[in-house]
Amino acid sequence: MRITLKVWRQKSIRDAGGFATYDAPDISPDMSFLEMLDVVNERLIAKGEEPIAFDHDCREGICGTCGLMINGVAHGPRAATTTCQLHMRSFTDGETIVIEPWRAGPFPVLRDLVVDRSAFDRIIAAGGFISIHSGSAPDGNAIPVPKNLSDLSMDAAACIGCGACVAACPNASAMLFVAAKVSHLGLLPQGQPERSARVLRMVNQMDGEGFGGCTNVGECEAVCPKEIRLEFIARMNRDYMKASLTYRKERAAGGEG
Ligand code: SF4
Ligand code: FES
Repeated sequence: MRITLKVWRQKSIRDAGGFATYDAPDISPDMSFLEMLDVVNERLIAKGEEPIAFDHDCREGICGTCGLMINGVAHGPRAATTTCQLHMRSFTDGETIVIEPWRAGPFPVLRDLVVDRSAFDRIIAAGGFISIHSGSAPDGNAIPVPKNLSDLSMDAAACIGCGACVAACPNASAMLFVAAKVSHLGLLPQGQPERSARVLRMVNQMDGEGFGGCTNVGECEAVCPKEIRLEFIARMNRDYMKASLTYRKERAAGGEG
């Protein structure tokens, strides 16, 4: 394949940035999208030019590190597919592919296609955990969990924190990500003691980081590589409403930390 790349290049967080165009001949349709970028970078380095900076780690669709706007779509044209699992056979010979970083105020561009997603880490630190006395692993059947709830919790836990939902949303809302994280703990017995505090703290942190509100556009669900469903946002909204009304009473009764 021979493709043309229009890639966002930006030297630093303070640089204005702009598109650069690269001719990329001899690209195998069996290469992953990131392998194609590796090849382009090797050629740039051989010519003495700066390689294109982009994030990646597992390249197996599980770490959430990769994430590019490809022809205006977060993670590109294939549904339920991370950028690292996208292959060049999803494009046509001679095509021009536009590659940009996530565009969202709370994800500032650090360099080229690399954005700072530490806002997600701070949201997790605000409440995405359970507090337990650690020790040896408890007996498998010690805490019964209904199958329907464990399935739903596993669906929510599939979120890899890639940020595509934020990048696709016209409001740069992080509701799908936060809803997945709130739900996967809130659905399990182990997550109940801190359920109210968790949703209040995580939503509060999300708002403080500058993410926008949800207006039910649904772009987040459409681009999510792990198919996290909008219904988790409705679930989080219910939890948030209930916690807003009851949390002080629960604290006064010594129910939550
Ligand atoms: S909800 Fe989906 S798109 Fe958003 S961070 Fe999680 S995996 Fe990525
Ligand atoms: S590099 Fe880990 S999900 Fe893509």
